[in-house]
Amino acid sequence: MPEPRIQAIEFAKQNYDRFLEELKAFIAIPSISTDAEQLPDIRNAANHLVKSLIDLGFEKAEVYETKGKPVVIAEKRCLKPDALTVLIYGHYDVQPVDPLDQWKSDPFKAEVRDEYLYARGCSDMKGQIWAALKAVESIQTVDKLSVNIKCIFEGEEEIGSPHLDEWIAEHTDLLSCDVVLNPDTGMLGKDIPTITYGLRGLCYFEIKLFGPQHDLHSGLFGGIIHNPANSICELIAGMHDKDGRVTLSGFYDQVIPLSDEDREQFKRLPLGDDFYREQTGVAQLWGEKGYTSAERVGARPTLDVNGIYSGFIGEGSKTIIPAWSMAKISMRLVPNQNPVEIRESFKKYINEHIPEGIRWEFKEHSSNPASLSDRNSPAVKALVKAQESVWGISPVFKREGGSVPIVLTLQKYLGVDSVLTGFGLPDDNVHAPNERLHLPTWQRGIETLIHFFYNL
Ligand code: BES
Ligand code: MN
Repeated sequence: MPEPRIQAIEFAKQNYDRFLEELKAFIAIPSISTDAEQLPDIRNAANHLVKSLIDLGFEKAEVYETKGKPVVIAEKRCLKPDALTVLIYGHYDVQPVDPLDQWKSDPFKAEVRDEYLYARGCSDMKGQIWAALKAVESIQTVDKLSVNIKCIFEGEEEIGSPHLDEWIAEHTDLLSCDVVLNPDTGMLGKDIPTITYGLRGLCYFEIKLFGPQHDLHSGLFGGIIHNPANSICELIAGMHDKDGRVTLSGFYDQVIPLSDEDREQFKRLPLGDDFYREQTGVAQLWGEKGYTSAERVGARPTLDVNGIYSGFIGEGSKTIIPAWSMAKISMRLVPNQNPVEIRESFKKYINEHIPEGIRWEFKEHSSNPASLSDRNSPAVKALVKAQESVWGISPVFKREGGSVPIVLTLQKYLGVDSVLTGFGLPDDNVHAPNERLHLPTWQRGIETLIHFFYNL
C-alpha cells in the first residue's frame, strides 16, 4: 500500500472530474455582493456551502447573521489530541459581471475551453474554496485528518468586508485556531509557485457634485456657471502631481520607506516592465517616479478613479450642462497608513479645492488597513514544502497589490497570521469579463493543499 498522502493525491486525481462538476454548481449561484438584488443568491451560496460542508462530514456548519451578509462557520475535529487547528478562509461572493456583452459565454454557466474554466468567481475565489475543501475530502476519504479544520466563508469581501470586523470581534471563540489558510491570492505564473506575505489596504470613497437644479442648455448657460462634470475632472486631476505622486496632504507621512533589502527582494521577482505591459496591453507604463513597477504595486500607496459618471453618455450628442457628477475613488494603502487619516485628508482636499457654487456629498464604501504576514512561520514552511513537492521548485515570496481585509482583522482579534496562497494566475481576468481558471494549475493546487495539511 502506498503511504496515505499518495493515496489521497491519487483519490483527488480520480475524482477530479466530479470536483469540477461540483465547482460548476457552486459557480452557478450568482452571489454578487455589490447588488442588493442578488441578496437571495448570496444566501443561496451560503446555504450551498453549509450543505457541502455537512456532506463532507463537518460536525458543525452553520450560517451566522452579521449586520451585513451572512458568514458560514464550520468545524471538523480530528481524533488526534493536541492537533493543530487550521482556519480556512474564503469568500463566496463575487464581482459584478458588467460589461456583460464582452463575455464569450454566460458568466454563471461555467464553460471549459482549452485548459480553462470560464465563469465569474471561478478564480476569485470559488475555485480556491473548492480546492481547499476537496483537499480535505481527499485526505479524509483514504485516511484520518491529523489537524482540526475550521472554516469561515464570508459574503462581502468584494465590497471591502464592511461588517466582518465587528462580527469577528464578537465571535473570536468560534474562530480560535493556530493558523489561517487563506487561498485568496494567486501565483505569478503557471510554473511559479507563490506565497504572498503582504497585502495593500483599501479606502474606497464616492463623491457626488451638484451644480444647477437640473440639466441646462449649454448654449444658453455655458460660460456662466461651474459645470460639475468639468469640476470633478479638475478635482481628480489635482490628486496627482507630475511625478505621479498623490497630492493629498500627509498621504505619505506614515509610509515606511523601502529598505535596501526590500528592494533586493522586489528585484528578484519576475515582475519586470515587460510583464506588466503584457498583462495590461498598454505600450507605456506610468507611476510614481523613483520606483519600479513591482514596487509601485506591492509596496507603494496609490489612488485611482474606479468609476466616473456625469451628463449625457448615450449615443450621439446632446448639448447640456449636467446637474451633477459623481466619481468612485479608491486608494490602495501600505502598512502603517491609517485609513481614518487618509479619509480626513481626502475630505480636506475636496473642501479646499471645490469651486464655489458646487455642493458635494461624500460616501465611504470601505476602509481597511494593509497587512504583512510572517514569512518564516512553521505553517509557511509547510506550504513551501508542499509547493516544492508539486512544482519541483521553491516558491517566490511576494507582496500583493490587492487587498483581503480579513487578514489584518484576524491578526488584530486572534493574533494569528494567515498563510496566503491560491492557484489563480495573473491573466485570469479577475473582476473582468471572461474570468477564468487554469485547470491544470487548479488540480496542482488541490495536490499542494493535500501536502500542506500533511506537512502541518
Ligand atoms: N482575491 C482578491 C485579491 C487579490 C487578487 C489578491 C489577486 C491577490 C491577487 C480579492 O477578492 C479582492 O479583489 N479584494 C478586493 C478587496 C477590496 C474590495 C477591499 C480588492 O483588492 O479590490
Ligand atoms: Mn477574492
